[in-house]
Amino acid sequence: MQLTRAVGAQLRYLAIEALVLFGLMLFFFWKARSVQGNGLEFSSNIGTNPSPQPLSQSTDTYDEDTWDFMPERDANNHGLSEKHCRLAFPKLFIEVDKSAGLAKQHPITLRDLDDIPIENGIVRGIIYHGELYVVEFGPMPYTFTRGKATLQALNRALISFTGRENLPDIEFVFTTHDFSTVEKPIWSYAKRDEENAVWLMPDFGYWSWPEVKIGPYQEIRRRIMAIDDGSDPSPGLLFQDKKKQLFWRGTVATNPELRGQLLQATEGKSWADTRALDWGNEEDIRSNLLSMEDHCRYMFLAHVEGHSFSGAGKYLLNCRSVFVSHKLVWREAHHHIFIASGPDANYIEVERDFSDLNDKIEYFISNPEAAEQIANNTVAMFRDRYLTPAAESCYWRHLIRQYASGCAFEPLLYSTQADGKKQPRGVPFESWILTSP
Ligand SMILES: *[C@@H]1O[C@H](CO)[C@@H](O)[C@H](O)[C@H]1NC(C)=O
Repeated sequence: MQLTRAVGAQLRYLAIEALVLFGLMLFFFWKARSVQGNGLEFSSNIGTNPSPQPLSQSTDTYDEDTWDFMPERDANNHGLSEKHCRLAFPKLFIEVDKSAGLAKQHPITLRDLDDIPIENGIVRGIIYHGELYVVEFGPMPYTFTRGKATLQALNRALISFTGRENLPDIEFVFTTHDFSTVEKPIWSYAKRDEENAVWLMPDFGYWSWPEVKIGPYQEIRRRIMAIDDGSDPSPGLLFQDKKKQLFWRGTVATNPELRGQLLQATEGKSWADTRALDWGNEEDIRSNLLSMEDHCRYMFLAHVEGHSFSGAGKYLLNCRSVFVSHKLVWREAHHHIFIASGPDANYIEVERDFSDLNDKIEYFISNPEAAEQIANNTVAMFRDRYLTPAAESCYWRHLIRQYASGCAFEPLLYSTQADGKKQPRGVPFESWILTSP
């Protein structure tokens, strides 16, 4: 009884959805015609309409010579062409290109991958003619959402891309841990500079990070922008009206030395609002955790490494605030975009023992214009360019191409058994995601 009612309701929703879809199609059809009819009309359209492009490849029809990345138009476009990716993000690929250079001296073999045990947190996959297959997915008591998020994000970069069947075929292994512990070719969210075998990939937060109450990346970006730029009817929060303090919340346990030193260096300072969080204590979390977007209400945001990289970093870099970090040991794909000094500075760098933190924060509190300049550079470089969803997908595809160039083998979708029978080695991602626990 309940079931039939539910099915009936579902069917009704389907009918409504179909109507809405049809209406949308009519609208886009009408819009596409008006675009074709008059180029001028289109350019005035995009200026006033911040919604993402309905068709992933539509930017390809623009005049190639004058094309420029426009965040309000392109930020959420996962399907930029290879050429537009390069034009938009000239510095995005430095880490991948470095890994590819190293791999050319020691090409990656199938044996290398076979040497990586598929244990807790490790995933092995294949991309074949632009389709994703999951070969093995290790048990993941703690990181299974990371594994799924990463596969989803990788698949999104594939299916958004016209011509994906022409991407090279690859077989790869990635780790969902904070860092890799094998000295074999592996994709990882972070690495130390000297870890030559590790290829950096975008972290799981570009999909979603529900465990710390941070939802989909695009949603958190919208919330952050609503604070800084305003959202009807509330105006944006001006930088000079932000709290003139350095803000930090986190667990000390993941890196007692560094995080403890930050707490020591900020203790009793009027310019600091820092505090250790205990994720196991609900009451503590309720009263002391601040939503990610509310971090942007502070002028200065501290960033401290944990086990390795700090997953909060890229959200903080979406704020029109000053990102304050100690000298980093762990790299993420976008870290080489940091500029510590000069007119293009986009963050403040302090020593790992925070000994110069006090002087630097006091300087910028008494020179708020200089601080605002840094915050503006952060918005331009990170929020509106290198940390956009568009950049994330460009990065994935460049990783696929460059990783392929470093491989000395072609992946096989089937293995042949002793009796000559062929056995598929991987499960298509579309099916895997439905049947995996
Ligand atoms: C920073 O950007 C805002 C918004 O675009 C602008 O109003 C302000 O003048 C800029 N400040 C500095 C110091 O460049």
